[in-house]
Amino acid sequence: MKIEKLTNNIGAELIGVNLAEAARNDDLLGAIRAELLAHKVLFLRDQDISRADHVAFAERFGELEDHPVVGSDPEYPGLVRIYKDANSPPDRFENSWHCDTTWREKPQMGAVLRCITCPPVGGDTMWANMALAYEDLADSVKEVIDPLKARHSIERSFGARMTEEKRHALHAQYPDAEHPVVRTHPETGEKILFVSSFTTHFTNFHTAENVRFGQDHVPGAANLLNYLTGRAAIPEYQVRWRWQPNSIAIWDNRCTQHYAVMDYPPCVRQMERAGIIGDKPY
Ligand code: SIN
Repeated sequence: MKIEKLTNNIGAELIGVNLAEAARNDDLLGAIRAELLAHKVLFLRDQDISRADHVAFAERFGELEDHPVVGSDPEYPGLVRIYKDANSPPDRFENSWHCDTTWREKPQMGAVLRCITCPPVGGDTMWANMALAYEDLADSVKEVIDPLKARHSIERSFGARMTEEKRHALHAQYPDAEHPVVRTHPETGEKILFVSSFTTHFTNFHTAENVRFGQDHVPGAANLLNYLTGRAAIPEYQVRWRWQPNSIAIWDNRCTQHYAVMDYPPCVRQMERAGIIGDKPY
């Protein structure tokens, strides 16, 4: 296996690896896991593997789960189809900086995304290193946010296009989750800035240290949250990947955010994502 870094801060391409084989080879799988922890996102080309192999590889990291809004392959539950064409609505959920399924108590630990069809140009995906985003914050900001918790809601993006009735039903089925604003990576121990486009507000900001006047409370907390969610957009924390059919990205969802660039309509773009259930963030 050859490893080529794509930036100094995040992302590496694995060369000479077949993921169908890796699913059956403990040593190879162990080596890929180690590279994932080191680089946070791994990329591979020319993975002409079956859906069964895609699922089998992802399941070596943990149990897979369906998505309540985006449909799955009927034969392979857990393999979510992110299929877009000229008739897809313009409000596509993937083109915002986000960390998958943080509206769950146990957000996904990672995902394995395979490109089935890509537009002739455009439709790249970007990832951001949120451990580095935390590390680079001023000490004075870290001091304020280290004890904070925040609410994450499925309604924030997926609910927006639904009728009020459907949105409330979705929310009742998937109630908001509350997570630390700064989580600790369970394997590397890194501290990670853990707010993204699913985050609605801080839940414990209103203390004597943070709030003296009304302006400190709602606008003050909202400004701080906006500042933090904006950090993923800093190019120095990012890697950008150009897809080809059978390209694969494997990412650690605990310490990254991603953004699928929507510069390809009306072209077809079809991606299949195996999302791996994670642990409760702490
Ligand atoms: C996602 O947001 O998980 C999908 C990314 C993509 O379609 O490139």
